[in-house]
Parts: sequence; C-alpha cells; structure tokens
Amino acid sequence: MMTRALSARTLLFMGLLLTGRRSLASAPELKEQPKRIAVVGAGIGGTAAAYFLRQEFGVEVKIDLFESGTVGGRLATEQIGGAEYETGGSIIHPLNLHMKHFLDRLGLSQRREVPSKMAIFDGEQLSFEESDWFIVNFLRMLWRYGFSFLRMQMWVEGVLDKFMRIYQYQQFGYSFSSVERLLHAMGGDSFLLLANQTLEEAMLGAGFSQNFLNDIVAPVTRVNYGQSVRINGFVGAVSLAGADSGLWAVDGGNKKVCSGLLYHSKAQLIPARVTAISTKHRPLRTGGMASLYEVSYVGEFGSAHALYDIVIVATPLHQGLSQIAFHGFTPSIPSHFPGRYHQTVSTLVHGILNTSFLGITEPPSQFLASDILTMEHRDSIIHSLSSIDPVHIPKGYSRPPASARKIWKVFSPQPLTEDQLSKIFLSWDAISEKRWLAYPSYNQPLRRTPPFILHERLYYLGAVEWAASAMEMSAISARNLALLAHHRWHEQDDRIDQEDLHTRLRSEL
Ligand SMILES: Cc1cc2nc3c(=O)[nH]c(=O)nc-3n(C[C@H](O)[C@H](O)[C@H](O)COP(=O)(O)OP(=O)(O)OC[C@H]3O[C@@H](n4cnc5c(N)ncnc54)[C@H](O)[C@@H]3O)c2cc1C
Ligand SMILES: *[C@@H]1O[C@H](CO)[C@@H](O)[C@H](O)[C@H]1NC(C)=O
Ligand SMILES: *[C@@H]1O[C@H](CO)[C@@H](O)[C@H](O)[C@H]1NC(C)=O
Repeated sequence: MMTRALSARTLLFMGLLLTGRRSLASAPELKEQPKRIAVVGAGIGGTAAAYFLRQEFGVEVKIDLFESGTVGGRLATEQIGGAEYETGGSIIHPLNLHMKHFLDRLGLSQRREVPSKMAIFDGEQLSFEESDWFIVNFLRMLWRYGFSFLRMQMWVEGVLDKFMRIYQYQQFGYSFSSVERLLHAMGGDSFLLLANQTLEEAMLGAGFSQNFLNDIVAPVTRVNYGQSVRINGFVGAVSLAGADSGLWAVDGGNKKVCSGLLYHSKAQLIPARVTAISTKHRPLRTGGMASLYEVSYVGEFGSAHALYDIVIVATPLHQGLSQIAFHGFTPSIPSHFPGRYHQTVSTLVHGILNTSFLGITEPPSQFLASDILTMEHRDSIIHSLSSIDPVHIPKGYSRPPASARKIWKVFSPQPLTEDQLSKIFLSWDAISEKRWLAYPSYNQPLRRTPPFILHERLYYLGAVEWAASAMEMSAISARNLALLAHHRWHEQDDRIDQEDLHTRLRSEL
C-alpha cells in the first residue's frame, strides 16, 4: 500500500551482503570441533539453525533435528477448494535478507505477484478503500491526516535502516549473547527504549495523533499480530513495515524453505517429541571430564535418548507449545518462561461474501479489495478478512471479485460460530479452521526477554520472539546462535557482544 525508496545505506548493505567479506570458517582451528549437535523444532528457526550450524562447524559434525509435528511449524498450508493456501506465516518483507538468501541458495522462487488492494472497516462501513491510483490514495490520506502518513513511513524507515545493520554484523561474524544486546547493537539505546514502550507511547511521543493511531495504525497491528497499539514499539515498527509495498511469499508455500534448509544442511530429521534435556558428565580418555547434554525423546518407536555437545531449542518454551523438562541445571531452567502466546484463529472459507456486512453499497462484482483490515470497535469479532491467492499462481490468474465464490481468510481471536459465519458470508461449501498460538501476547512493554543462553552450550532461539515474531526474526536468531555457539566453543570472545560495531565497521569499509 505504500511506496518507498530504498535508502542509500540499505543498498550499501545489500551490496555488502552479496559480495561477502567474512570468512571465519578459514580461521585457524583452536579446538576440536563438536561431534554432535541437536536442534529441537523444525520450523524456520530450527531449520535455519541447522543450515547455519553446518556453515559454522563444517561437514564433520553430526546434526540431529527433532520435530514432533510437521517440518515448517508455523509455516503451514491447507488444501481447500482445489488449491493450497497459507494458514500461518504468509508475507515476507522485501528487505528480509536471510529469507531472500535462502530462496537463492535453495533454488526456490518468489510467488508471482497479484496486485492487492487494502481497505479499512470501522465496524459499520469502509472508512478507507485503496484506489488503483497512487495519487488518489495520497490525496485522500493527506486530506484526512495531513502529513502523518508520510511521517509514519519515514519513522518506519528510520527503524528499518538501523535494523539492517544486523546483516552486516552477522556477515562479519559478530554475535550477541542476549536479545537486549542484539537490539542495542542495531539501534543503540533508542531501540531498547522503543522495545520498552508501547507502540502507542512511542508514536504519540513522536507527534502522531490518537486518531491516526486508531484509524490507521491499530488496523495494521490487528491484522499482523491480532493485538492493539499497546504492543511494544519494536514489534509495532516490524508490524508497520509489514504494510510496505513489495511484500512477497514463496512459490509453492513458505514452508518449502524449511524442508529445503533441512535437506541442504544435511541434518538428520528425527520425527520425535523431545521430553527432557539433562546435563551428563563423561570421563575423558585423556583425563578430566566432558560435559554433555542428554536429550530424551519419544517417537513412533518408543522412547530413546542421545548425547550432544551443543543443543539449540528452537520451539517456544511456553504453555501449549512445548513441554520440555530440564534436569540437573543450576540455576534451574523452567519448562515455561513468563508470558503467554496469543491465540489467532485462521479460518479459510470457500464461499461468497455478504458485502453488506462491510456496509458496502457498490455491486459485489465491482468490489475488488483484497485485504480488509479492521479498526477496534464494539462487537468486533474479526481482526481481518482477506481474499487470498493460492501458494502457486497459475498462468493467467486474476483475483475474482467479491461476487464470485472464492477463498477468504479470516483472522479472529476466537473460533467463529456458524451464526457469525452466516453474517459474514452468504454461502460457503468448505471451511478449514486452524487455531494458532501464533505469537507472544505483547500486552506490555518489553521489560526482560528470555535468555539466548540457557546454559553453557544450551541455547534458546525463540527468545527473540519477545522483541518481535516473524520468519526473518527467527532466521536472524538462528544465525546469531550458530555464530554464538561457534565462538563460545572456540573461545573467540572478540566476536561476542562487541560495542560500537556500527562505527567500527564503517571505518573498516
Ligand atoms: C497466523 C499467523 C500469521 C503469521 N504471519 C506472519 C507473516 O505474515 N510474516 C512473518 O514473517 N511471520 C508471520 N507469523 C509468525 C511466523 O510464522 C513465526 O514467527 C515463525 O514461523 C516462527 O518460526 P519458529 O521456527 O521460530 O517456530 P515454530 O514454527 O513454532 O517451530 C517450532 C517447531 O518446534 C516443534 N516442537 C515443539 N515442541 C517440540 C518438542 N518438544 N520436540 C520436538 N519438536 C517440538 C513444533 O512442532 C514446531 O514445528 C505468523 C504466525 C501465525 C501463526
Ligand atoms: C525497561 O525499563 C525498565 C525500567 O522501567 C528497566 O529495568 C529495563 O532494563 C528496561 N529494559 C530494556 C530492555 O531496556
Ligand atoms: C448480509 O449482511 C447484512 C448486514 O449485516 C444483513 O442485514 C443481511 O441479513 C445479510 N444477508 C444475508 C443473506 O445473510
């Protein structure tokens, strides 16, 4: 919906990423490599971790990837009305460079683009409907909100510019031992402050009006995170970037990246549920003791356990998402960290929309908006309503108008009842509902995030989600933990938690 130009700095970093400068793999080996590494969870985070671990530790190390459900995790598709559709994570930002890199490496491509049109529903009617003409949209926004709209784009771009620094740091092999350190390295104190405020506080502080927040910003946080403008300012900025133009998805389904990374990493997939992780000590032949982690798991063929040098937990440690017991650690590690995950129900409906529900007066055959966001209002049962396209776009495809029977995706906090569905749709012939514990419930500013380091060589990838949850965030966390695990194993402290990297690397360029 918005048009933005890439800043010079961004382009510089992209160029840097393409040419590549670092090669830690060629650094002298200081210590024997680890023999076995376990990754728990095969979503985008776990599979990206396997990929980056292979890159850091070389071909010899054995990497096991445990998955109790299906590879892809929260990236998943459903078959309905004769085609396949995304039900979980669906859109990717044009500057999500890890996701782009995966696509290139795995020989996948972006799904063909189908132009989309946004509208906002205020509870009675559409308060805004995007036109085909940029200038019309611009004038409508200018009329209602003055320059707030442009200022918002600049505000988001300012955050994004700093965010992009992480790619340069990772390219040079730098890693961070906590989410706070990672945020600080990207955006300094301003990022910590942003994460420590609500989006509402941050934007009011930056001079945006409450009306603008209610009318424009809240609909975006509602569609992307099912929550209000009282989410933390960092995830809020990520959410607003998710309304930029140029968003994309993977041809054939986003989860293809996960299976591709798994294959490419030459990790072994163990289809089993990890039940416990314990510390174990083994006498060494050379004298002394080796400390290892024992991973206990239950699979189709019963329970078993295995020993590892390094373990990366790549599933959220939260109620309803995993149940892993940690034994023998001091201080103890909880199975569940504070905070809970927010429920978003994703309902795919093959049916005909009742356009009167949205207060639309034009004939349905002329109604072409694809993404209908909603303002917070009384009696609101849905967060958003979208006319969606299949994961693979056939040649000659164009999105049908609202008069046609087609696939709609509804996000709501609760499952929709038959009664509610019959208010929104005139008729339907197929429904597929998926209840996600989708992302953290960001109902307060970020005071403390869970740790990346649970124990000496035991790491927690999902900690990053408390800053913001997105595919790219999991990928950034995966790269960070592969580097961190490598540097801690080889005692390369000069690559961990370095201050002032931004200025230092600029003078190195
Ligand atoms: C409805 C919805 C919409 C979203 N929209 C977007 C979007 O448009 N863009 C975007 O970037 N992000 C989006 N997200 C967020 C994005 O999907 C997630 O941030 C990302 O997929 C998280 O990946 P992950 O690998 O860290 O976790 P997960 O995908 O949750 O992977 C964890 C895996 O661990 C497995 N597991 C759990 N416990 C165990 C155990 N004990 N043993 C073995 N395996 C275990 C699980 O089965 C799961 O496969 C959305 C999410 C949802 C739900
Ligand atoms: C957030 O603010 C609290 C005090 O209000 C402070 O203790 C905490 O360290 C801050 N967290 C971050 C991530 O800056
Ligand atoms: C369509 O929605 C309108 C407004 O909510 C409602 O009055 C009407 O009964 C609905 N039509 C059908 C056929 O359900």
